[in-house]
Amino acid sequence: MEAVLIFLAISALFSNAVAYDPLDPNGNITIKWDVISWTPDGYVALVTMNNFQMYRHIMSPGWTLGWSWAKKEVIWSIVGAQATEQGDCSKFKGGIPHCCKKTPQVVDLLPGVPYNQQIANCCKGGVVAAYGQDPSAAVSSFQVSVGLAGTTNKTVKLPKNFTLLGPGLGYTCGPAKIVPSTVFLTPDRRRKTQALMTWNVTCTYSQILASKYPSCCVSLSTFYNSTIVPCPSCSCGCQHKNCIQKDAKVLTTTGVNTPRKDGSPLLQCTSHMCPIRVHWHIKLNYKDYWRAKIAITNFNYRMNYTQWTLVAQHPNLNNITEVFSFSYKPILPYGSINDTAMFYGLKYYNDLLMEAGPEGNVQSEILLQKDQNTFTFKQGWAFPRKVYFNGDECKMPRPDDYPHLPNSAPKFAERPLQQLLFILASLFWALQMV
Ligand SMILES: *[C@@H]1O[C@H](CO)[C@@H](O)[C@H](O)[C@H]1NC(C)=O
Ligand SMILES: *[C@@H]1O[C@H](CO)[C@@H](O)[C@H](O)[C@H]1NC(C)=O
Ligand SMILES: *[C@@H]1O[C@H](CO)[C@@H](O)[C@H](O)[C@H]1NC(C)=O
Ligand SMILES: *[C@@H]1O[C@H](CO)[C@@H](O)[C@H](O)[C@H]1NC(C)=O
Ligand SMILES: *[C@@H]1O[C@H](CO)[C@@H](O)[C@H](O)[C@H]1NC(C)=O
Ligand SMILES: *[C@@H]1O[C@H](CO)[C@@H](O)[C@H](O)[C@H]1NC(C)=O
Ligand SMILES: *[C@@H]1O[C@H](CO)[C@@H](O)[C@H](O)[C@H]1NC(C)=O
Ligand SMILES: *[C@@H]1O[C@H](CO)[C@@H](O)[C@H](O)[C@H]1NC(C)=O
Repeated sequence: MEAVLIFLAISALFSNAVAYDPLDPNGNITIKWDVISWTPDGYVALVTMNNFQMYRHIMSPGWTLGWSWAKKEVIWSIVGAQATEQGDCSKFKGGIPHCCKKTPQVVDLLPGVPYNQQIANCCKGGVVAAYGQDPSAAVSSFQVSVGLAGTTNKTVKLPKNFTLLGPGLGYTCGPAKIVPSTVFLTPDRRRKTQALMTWNVTCTYSQILASKYPSCCVSLSTFYNSTIVPCPSCSCGCQHKNCIQKDAKVLTTTGVNTPRKDGSPLLQCTSHMCPIRVHWHIKLNYKDYWRAKIAITNFNYRMNYTQWTLVAQHPNLNNITEVFSFSYKPILPYGSINDTAMFYGLKYYNDLLMEAGPEGNVQSEILLQKDQNTFTFKQGWAFPRKVYFNGDECKMPRPDDYPHLPNSAPKFAERPLQQLLFILASLFWALQMV
């Protein structure tokens, strides 16, 4: 009983902490400002955005970073990015600043700008890879020259109210904090230099903030039961959603699939109304192995998903033997529990999930070695516990609806034991994190 109470208390705690992702508990985006020189009226800072999230990337059309100046600062110039609006610079004569707004918003430049407007890690159209997929591309930088600001580490005022925006992005940023100055190595690696001052801002993701409804759903099938369990109806919300039939004439009009600035989708009509469906099929049963097929289908005519990621949690994923046409990486959110895997496309083969239509799907099969002590087809054990697409958790069917083994009615007597095991497992996880 005590255990149950503790578990309830802990789960209440976590459900309130909106920005907590149990499969990536340390994931965040950190924005670091390194002051690299003082100027007569301010400073030049190198701003670096590091995506430390294992499987959540920032897709095209990319990030928009905003903040509020603490005093009357202006941006004289930016290299590797630009402010979206100049604002009112009318009080300046001669040199006109790049941006005079109290709350500037900065976006990355597009690839292919002239070299003299670039710096390292800039100019990727605001696209930032997930750390687990490509750590070297999980970073974005620009350099900003700030005027009417403090000119010593005692007089500089840190910018406030950071925001990280973009279609479908649900980040909340904390306050800027002064941290130990970054040490840089010179290009020949023979000398170390140091930022004059460094501050960090940490932003965390919350799916609820990004959207009220899930953005993907899961359907299930097996070789032992011909029932296909579809995504729950209205998984992604049906109200105020428009959709078109898959053979609608309007689809042949040019420009109908041009992405919108606000990211609004053009959905194919389905009962679930999700832009993405993940199908998990239990395909084959061998003596020591079993095989599952995973298919991802895009129902949005206005979206090509680049660098997509799929995360699945299942107790047998610690014994993946082969993944046939996706890349694969185990994720160990709590160090020792190896039950979560990230899948993503093979470069130039299926790393692009095309817009809805005949090409709008990617698929793979995985081969897993059975752990003879736990393996079973009973009670949907072979289905994933959780599925995430691009970092958002997908809506699963209700366990009661899972395909059954022939002649095996659900055994209600076994449920309390399962529940107890679930509580114990959750408690174990929770304690590991404290
Ligand atoms: C942000 O993520 C990094 C890498 O996982 C971690 O070391 C750091 O503690 C995190 N910061 C916060 C404030 O959670
Ligand atoms: C500040 O951010 C950088 C990454 O941009 C990170 O490596 C460093 O650990 C952070 N410092 C603190 C004190 O959080
Ligand atoms: C400011 O600079 C002085 C020396 O120039 C240094 O001793 C001090 O630690 C610095 N403070 C911060 C917050 O960086
Ligand atoms: C930051 O945001 C808070 C709440 O939205 C607001 O009260 C405050 O004035 C803002 N600060 C600045 C410097 O804009
Ligand atoms: C997706 O990519 C294909 C091929 O690059 C292109 O023809 C199509 O217009 C793109 N669709 C969208 C919605 O961007
Ligand atoms: C986790 O499982 C994968 C798949 O079998 C395996 O390759 C990897 O070595 C395991 N990692 C740990 C730390 O157990
Ligand atoms: C499954 O993986 C675990 C840990 O990764 C390992 O100890 C165990 O021997 C594996 N089981 C089989 C049947 O290979
Ligand atoms: C297949 O599973 C469904 C539950 O989803 C169940 O109603 C049905 O009886 C099963 N079919 C067989 C042949 O056992």
